[in-house]
Amino acid sequence: MRSLVLLLVAAFLLPAQAVTFNKDIAPIIYQNCAACHRPGEAAPFSLLSYADVAKKGTTLAGAVASRYMPPWKADPASYEYRDQRRLTDAQIALIQTWVKQGMPEGAAKDRTAPPTFASGWRLGEPDLVVEMPATFHIPAEGADIYRNIALPLGLNEDKWITAIEMHPTARAAVHHVLYFADPNGKAHDKSDGPEPGFGGMRAGGATVSLGGWAVGAQPQFFPEGLALSVTKGSDLVMQYHFHPTGKPLEEKARIGLYFAKKAPERQMVAIQLPPVYSLFEGLDITPGDKDYVVKDSYTLPAAMDAVGVSAHAHYLGKILKMTATLPSGEVKTLLAISDWDFAWQDRYFFKDFVALPKGTRLDAEVHWDNSANNPRNPSSPPQHVEWGEQSKDEMGTVTLIAVPRSGEDLPLLRSEIRQRTTSAATKRVMRDPKFALKLRALMAQ
Ligand code: HEC
Repeated sequence: MRSLVLLLVAAFLLPAQAVTFNKDIAPIIYQNCAACHRPGEAAPFSLLSYADVAKKGTTLAGAVASRYMPPWKADPASYEYRDQRRLTDAQIALIQTWVKQGMPEGAAKDRTAPPTFASGWRLGEPDLVVEMPATFHIPAEGADIYRNIALPLGLNEDKWITAIEMHPTARAAVHHVLYFADPNGKAHDKSDGPEPGFGGMRAGGATVSLGGWAVGAQPQFFPEGLALSVTKGSDLVMQYHFHPTGKPLEEKARIGLYFAKKAPERQMVAIQLPPVYSLFEGLDITPGDKDYVVKDSYTLPAAMDAVGVSAHAHYLGKILKMTATLPSGEVKTLLAISDWDFAWQDRYFFKDFVALPKGTRLDAEVHWDNSANNPRNPSSPPQHVEWGEQSKDEMGTVTLIAVPRSGEDLPLLRSEIRQRTTSAATKRVMRDPKFALKLRALMAQ
């Protein structure tokens, strides 16, 4: 009893231990912020020293309190994500206290060295580095540009890609990049002018999707030894989406490829709901519509393990969501983004595979807000919006990446996924015969 009283008195009399940069704040910043806040990276200033951090004190405290930083758009879901960029409430509180206490640096003995990032590659030394054969010039002004640029890989054997890390030179203008493998090297010969590559949003011919990169996304290895196949002789096709910034910029990216040591035991499939970014949904978003919604569902014909989930929409996207209703009736949230931000696109991998039994129903929904109250609305006053490739147009989808529990189910899944796209396209053409022309024009690009 007496010791408890003493303890209480002591706690009362002694000043609360000061929160210092060296002891408490540096570890949080270095671990959660420095990867982007360093020279040559996406963030506009560095956070690699006491002086860097103290200079931003109040803004920084506000940015973490509102969870604007670190950027991470997925709300907590039913399952944990890997490499989650989310500070704990305690870490956020500690930063607020430190700023209120006048941001003391603390004792030299507590100092932590800032992290180092080997040779600029976030994932370590790549197995193969390729560079764009020529520079693409992005004008200062004008509409968004979609550009397909092929890079010969010089592979003389088949490979499995476990990760791709891209280093653009025109980072400010690169909105997102989709990667494709072109086994026939067709894209390589295609050209429509003096600039490298060709326009449009079709990477050409029989290309195979290899994922992508978007502003704010971090390069990542696929979990559990998963990988995507590229056959020998393939080109890598980068499908760029550039957004002019007001300054002319030059893009000549370097791409690091990481290969698996051996073929993966299980193969991934992507289940996109609705398919093709809602191309067949007939998006017709009237100005002022606060909540325009599309929904899509798919019931799994086989047991699968969910690997990760991602979402895509343009500026009017608001809520993007995917749930899994298990055969037991239990509803699980796979992804919930309640305040979509075009600037922060990411793939969210689950920390552990999520078992989805045969008969699980996936439900996805995408909501758009085309009112003047949407601070991200690119049009003022709001305009009528349809499906399209420009950032003032819209598209939207939620994609589940999963592996069938048994490899034998792979062909069935692949054929059902193709079938869903074909049947969505057919239904749309039946409803709106003129759409066939639009589709043909898109395919021809
Ligand atoms: C994934 C990359 C990334 C990470 C991780 C990241 N930032 Fe940022 N940060 C950015 C980018 C890009 C910007 C500038 C664009 C913007 O303001 O949206 C930015 C802007 C900021 C700003 C300016 C906000 C304003 O209102 O002007 C602050 C402050 C900030 N970051 C603090 C942090 C802190 C603190 C952390 C870690 C807890 C962190 N950031 C983690 C990329 C990142």
